[in-house]
Amino acid sequence: MLNRYLRPFVFSLAFTGRVLAAPPKTVPVIPVVSKITAYGDLVDPGLNRDSCSSSLWSTNKMLWVCRDTQQVLSNGTIGPNSIVNSASFSAMPNPPNDPQQLLLNSPESFGHVFYAMEPDECGQGLCENGICYPGLCSDGSRWVGWPDTGPVVTFRGSLGVVNAYAFITQQHLSGLSVLNTTGYELYHVTSGIDLEGNILPSTTKHIDSFWTSTQIGYGSAASVVHDGFAYLYGATPNRKLAVARAVLMGLVPSLEDPSVYEYYVNGTWTRTAPVSTDPTIVLPNTSAIQGTIYYSPKWESFVSIGGDGFPDANFLISTSPKAEGPWSAPTQFYSGAVGNGSLGAYSAVAHPGLTDGTGDYIFLTWTKTHPDVNGRDVYEQPLVRVDWE
Ligand SMILES: *[C@@H]1O[C@H](CO)[C@@H](O)[C@H](O)[C@H]1NC(C)=O
Ligand SMILES: *[C@@H]1O[C@H](CO)[C@@H](O)[C@H](O)[C@H]1NC(C)=O
Ligand SMILES: *[C@@H]1O[C@H](CO)[C@@H](O)[C@H](O)[C@H]1NC(C)=O
Ligand SMILES: *[C@@H]1O[C@H](CO)[C@@H](O)[C@H](O)[C@H]1NC(C)=O
Ligand SMILES: *[C@@H]1O[C@H](CO)[C@@H](O)[C@H](O)[C@H]1NC(C)=O
Repeated sequence: MLNRYLRPFVFSLAFTGRVLAAPPKTVPVIPVVSKITAYGDLVDPGLNRDSCSSSLWSTNKMLWVCRDTQQVLSNGTIGPNSIVNSASFSAMPNPPNDPQQLLLNSPESFGHVFYAMEPDECGQGLCENGICYPGLCSDGSRWVGWPDTGPVVTFRGSLGVVNAYAFITQQHLSGLSVLNTTGYELYHVTSGIDLEGNILPSTTKHIDSFWTSTQIGYGSAASVVHDGFAYLYGATPNRKLAVARAVLMGLVPSLEDPSVYEYYVNGTWTRTAPVSTDPTIVLPNTSAIQGTIYYSPKWESFVSIGGDGFPDANFLISTSPKAEGPWSAPTQFYSGAVGNGSLGAYSAVAHPGLTDGTGDYIFLTWTKTHPDVNGRDVYEQPLVRVDWE
């Protein structure tokens, strides 16, 4: 696993990369499903969690980051308030001949916010029964930092040492209506030596409005590390994707320095960050409905897997020889069950970190809901493995 990520980096240092890389494939890839294996719902003891995404963290260990997280009370009902985001670890799933539910371990007790809110985002929050809910304001409005994708890992060392970054949209909501999007926060997500593997990464270092409200939130929608670059995708105002890339330099590549970035604008990479409304940054055939982008050696292609939007969990797939396109027209390859709660189904994402990296198969999850006895939504997140022909 370590080699898989270090190899492209070392390669690009030694040879300036693309000169020796194989020419991009010109024949479009046509993904065909050979087998579907259901693993049941993710197991999340004591917690009711919305929309988890994941990153391969260290050898055989996944980091999961989820949105709204509530307590499951001792009588089985769902607690009233939500922590805005939370994190867990898991092991790797079983092989498909013995599919078992995957356990998400939460080393911190309920109440720990993984990506903290800023003081001016009702960061202290409202407190009830000894638990504070950062982001909840006294006027009933709410600031959220909902992760749409797992952190992008730029270094995996030995003994559990990891260096990663997360880009989180800073949003002020009334109910589910957006009052304001004030920018995109950059969190430095790091693990030190952790032999037991049960200390959650630190996120204490963060940069408020790393991307401003008039820029694209690069990295907030999806990211993929390939051939010495971190490719970072963000939503455009018309709900497509735009992409930036950061060159990975040094032993522990940093994404905090603006000079490592280039932006894909009007068909070319440029050093000047565009405004979010620039029509020439929109990548054709992409969608900003939540999803995942990864690289498949099997297809020698970048792969985008995502949903067709609330209230369904129809999974669409699109491929491209390069991170910036041309992306093929998305086609549907799987349809997840919809729940009977108020929110149906959404957050159709993929989990490339749960695979062996060959591209022969992928894992999917989505969120569906059903009501508890008090009518509060209970989140279920089915895990499914899809093997490709
Ligand atoms: C379950 O426990 C909570 C907290 O103690 C309580 O408020 C609630 O009334 C209980 N029962 C139901 C059906 O919600
Ligand atoms: C949105 O946030 C910006 C930046 O903090 C602020 O200047 C503006 O007044 C806010 N707009 C609304 C409608 O709250
Ligand atoms: C985009 O690039 C094309 C040539 O590739 C050029 O003709 C056009 O003027 C450019 N558009 C903008 C808005 O810069
Ligand atoms: C979108 O995908 C279709 C099918 O692969 C392709 O024919 C078309 O050229 C793509 N559009 C663009 C603008 O790349
Ligand atoms: C709603 O879905 C849940 C589980 O997903 C199931 O247990 C329950 O029976 C369903 N309720 C109705 C009214 O269909």
